[in-house]
Amino acid sequence: MKGVILAGGLGSRLHPLTKVTNKHLLPVYDKPMIYYPIETLVQAGIKDILIVTGGNSAGDFLRLLGNGAQFGLHHINYTYQEGEGGIAHALGLAKHFAAGDKIVVILGDNIIQEDITTHVQHFEKQKSGARLLLKKVPDPERFGVPTLKWGKITEIIEKPKNPKSSYAVIGIYMYDATVFNFIKTLKPSKRGELEITDVNNWYLKQGKLEYDILKGFWTDAGTFESLFKAGTLVEKHGRQRK
Ligand code: G1P
Repeated sequence: MKGVILAGGLGSRLHPLTKVTNKHLLPVYDKPMIYYPIETLVQAGIKDILIVTGGNSAGDFLRLLGNGAQFGLHHINYTYQEGEGGIAHALGLAKHFAAGDKIVVILGDNIIQEDITTHVQHFEKQKSGARLLLKKVPDPERFGVPTLKWGKITEIIEKPKNPKSSYAVIGIYMYDATVFNFIKTLKPSKRGELEITDVNNWYLKQGKLEYDILKGFWTDAGTFESLFKAGTLVEKHGRQRK
């Protein structure tokens, strides 16, 4: 299993904090944001990691992380996303890195408390397809929201006005290598991006989409409110250690 961290974008919802730097280099309590997804992967035993960056200060990732020695890594792979094509576009850049292996994808601004080892093991046992992590939230309309019937996902709607459940599809996705062929066929959504929700619905249609419910806290950190919340959660609860 390989890991892909998506850390591109212009971070426009965080202007002026992101005017001269990349969102994922901003502090979340006592560490740069990008440390958290790296730690999440390493904790789950995933040491072959690609960081997809973009926008401002891309070179600063190298200065900050180097070859990942502070995480017990010997090497980190990097690639660069031009512009803001969306999550699925950024993931498409990981095709060569994945080279046919299964991958765990983390959005660089998603901060979680739980150790995801068990979920990754579930996906290892899964023959093919995709696996999502869901979390109950008070504001599902901000996220991709699953409709759940008899414990099965029947549809995922991106930022629905009237959410059909109180769960969010969080930004940790597990995919087999077929994901890259589908991404090539994707068309931009109304917000001009290749949507990860379209990717997930494609697996769903094939009957190949599974999920687990995440324990512990989860937040994104892409707005002023959620960035502040992320720092507060980390300060208050820390992160689960093995
Ligand atoms: C993205 C995804 C959404 C997901 C969220 C998790 O939203 O499109 O489905 O629930 O990340 O953080 P965005 O951050 O692009 O608004």
